[in-house]
Amino acid sequence: MSRDIKENYIIKQFTAEFNEQPAFIVRAPGRVNLIGEHTDYNGLPVMPIAIPYTIKVAVSLRTDNRVYIKNTDYRFKPSSFDISGDIPVSEAGDWSNYVKAAVNELSRRYKTEFKGMNALYYGDLPSSAGLSSSSALVIASALSFIAANGQRIDPVELAEAMAYGEHYVGTQGGGMDQAICMLGRKNNAVKLDFFPLRHQYVPFPENHSIVVAHSLVRAAKTENALLSYNRRPAECRLATAIINATHHPAIPLKRLGDCCIDNGFDIGDSYLDFVDQTFPEKSYSLEDVASITGETCESVTKNYLYTRSGVPMPVPPEGFLIRQRALHVLSEAHRVEESVQVMENGDAKSFGILMNRSHKSCDELYGISTPELNTLVGVMRDYGALGARLTGAGFGGCAIGLVRDDDVAKVMNGVREAYYKTYIRSKRPDLMASDEFDDSLLFSVKPADGASYDKV
Ligand code: GLA
Repeated sequence: MSRDIKENYIIKQFTAEFNEQPAFIVRAPGRVNLIGEHTDYNGLPVMPIAIPYTIKVAVSLRTDNRVYIKNTDYRFKPSSFDISGDIPVSEAGDWSNYVKAAVNELSRRYKTEFKGMNALYYGDLPSSAGLSSSSALVIASALSFIAANGQRIDPVELAEAMAYGEHYVGTQGGGMDQAICMLGRKNNAVKLDFFPLRHQYVPFPENHSIVVAHSLVRAAKTENALLSYNRRPAECRLATAIINATHHPAIPLKRLGDCCIDNGFDIGDSYLDFVDQTFPEKSYSLEDVASITGETCESVTKNYLYTRSGVPMPVPPEGFLIRQRALHVLSEAHRVEESVQVMENGDAKSFGILMNRSHKSCDELYGISTPELNTLVGVMRDYGALGARLTGAGFGGCAIGLVRDDDVAKVMNGVREAYYKTYIRSKRPDLMASDEFDDSLLFSVKPADGASYDKV
């Protein structure tokens, strides 16, 4: 494979930093999720694409068991640690945690005599933008570690292992990000199902693109953002416990999505009636849940409101919005199935409508949108997007629009003028001041290939 100028430069820099040539160059893409938000950890499908922005690593094997990591971006400090299946976590937000998550999980799971690595990270995938830079970093690190050690692991197996491995950093995410990073394919969206991980390629509409625009609200995985995210899986665990206590399925459900699969308790298409009947209240207190499940408040806290740090999640002031969460998750799963059908028919217009419905549900029922994201999707639609929605965990980050290739420039100009120059400057000038607008925050993509590596 011919090397580009950047790669040759990195090889030189690696050699200067580590006194030897790298053995492999690894690349792991970011993603945007087209539809199916917060369904993955519930065991329900998603449909993301990999994007042509990647985290890359130049890597070589060491003879001892230490891992040295450096980054061409000076904001990410060099770091090192020893390999084990019990590596101490650094403080929240430290990039080394994502490398540790990969190495920790691989050595815990495979118990091979792994050697350490020297690794230099670079790439063009923006961080904290909701484009899954964290999982790309985990996958890039896992592939670097495996390749340097001369091992091979099946891509689906590795994606599943890393979905679990990433819980090391404290998020209780599902498996979408790691799976699309491994399994993405040019010109295709990928429908993913979980527990166990399965994938199906779905043709992306020809002559269409996805416009990606950052809302400028940073979705960094700080303690606060972690709590807002983790509260959603917790509310879904409470929903599952209530179904088990009130419907007594023969096989107790492990997760909310189990009520849609054929295991002797399948609610079929009638999820609206099911939600009405099972979750009649607008909001639930800890005591409400305990009295329904027949547990004490302490055991509800211990069983469903756990975090990795051991400090249980606080009860939100508005109570647990279990009914709304369940409605979003179950309706969103239906939208994913419908999306597969309309995309297989090449019907971009209908897919756009499903994207709009998904955004509404993410906002009104799942509570993961922001005023900025709502404005941004409105602007995209006004300027010609067939559909627009937030993408990823929410609480900030990016919005995406499905746009005809011929309209891409129009939509991007519209976003520049109506969102960044008008809305943000008048309503949230603080976001512009702290974050200069540049083109890495507004771009258009088509589906790209998943992670790979090459010998140097
Ligand atoms: C984050 C998680 C994913 C998924 C999305 C929401 O990106 O890492 O597993 O839950 O949020 O759909």
